[in-house]
Amino acid sequence: MAAEELAVPRHIAIVMDGNGRWAKKRFLPRFFGHKAGVDALVKVIEACIERDVQHLTVFAFSSENWKRSDDEVSALMGLILAAVSRYLHKLHRLGVRVRVIGDRDIAPKLKKAWDEAEALTAGNTKLQLNVAFNYGGRWDIVQAARRAAEAGVQAAEITEAKLSEFMALRHAPDPDLFIRTGGEVRISNFMLWQVAYSEFVFSDALWPDFCATQLDAAIACFRNRDRRFGGVKESA
Ligand code: IPE
Ligand code: IPE
Ligand code: MG
Repeated sequence: MAAEELAVPRHIAIVMDGNGRWAKKRFLPRFFGHKAGVDALVKVIEACIERDVQHLTVFAFSSENWKRSDDEVSALMGLILAAVSRYLHKLHRLGVRVRVIGDRDIAPKLKKAWDEAEALTAGNTKLQLNVAFNYGGRWDIVQAARRAAEAGVQAAEITEAKLSEFMALRHAPDPDLFIRTGGEVRISNFMLWQVAYSEFVFSDALWPDFCATQLDAAIACFRNRDRRFGGVKESA
């Protein structure tokens, strides 16, 4: 479908980057940037619901973010637990279905929080929220291949559609719009398989400053894109 036919992206993927720099600008420890980032995410979720976006996938913690200091990693884990207890019921009331994508082989407390969030919101249909946590695009492709092998899929049966059935985002269409905040122009191992034909928008806004205005600017950019998916426009 051409972008102009899609007034609002069905699926938006966001690399929420720039929390540390936001804090640094304010002479605050990085943690405060992450904390402000959680509040920004809740506002963006509300804005997506108002705009009828169906799926939102956000990069919260990458497979590579373990390289950060122990202090930052443990502060992030604590913040995630606090965010779940603070905002989960609000998201549930808003009709958000939460799914966590990524390697769950992590701290039991976090796994329990994710399981509870998914169970509570399993019946919601307003917005499908995928939180990518301990996630990497390469991890996803590898785990899909491994699970396909475990399920007895034979080499001759492996197609793009078959492998997609085993990917972490098998329940969602590919993202129409990929947004990265924080000014960096790279993917950083997010959704490598699914962004094959996404439209990319890079925003200089640091994630805690990203709000409905910037979301609308990104959607406006998306609407102006000419999506061809490898084909040729009839008018060309
Ligand atoms: C993104 O913000 C959040 C996570 C990676 C958890 P950063 O922490 O990467 O912020 P910057 O890029 O250092 O400003
Ligand atoms: C990507 O941001 C990961 C998340 C936003 C969770 P990073 O800050 O980790 O990416 P790099 O290191 O700048 O590529
Ligand atoms: Mg960063």
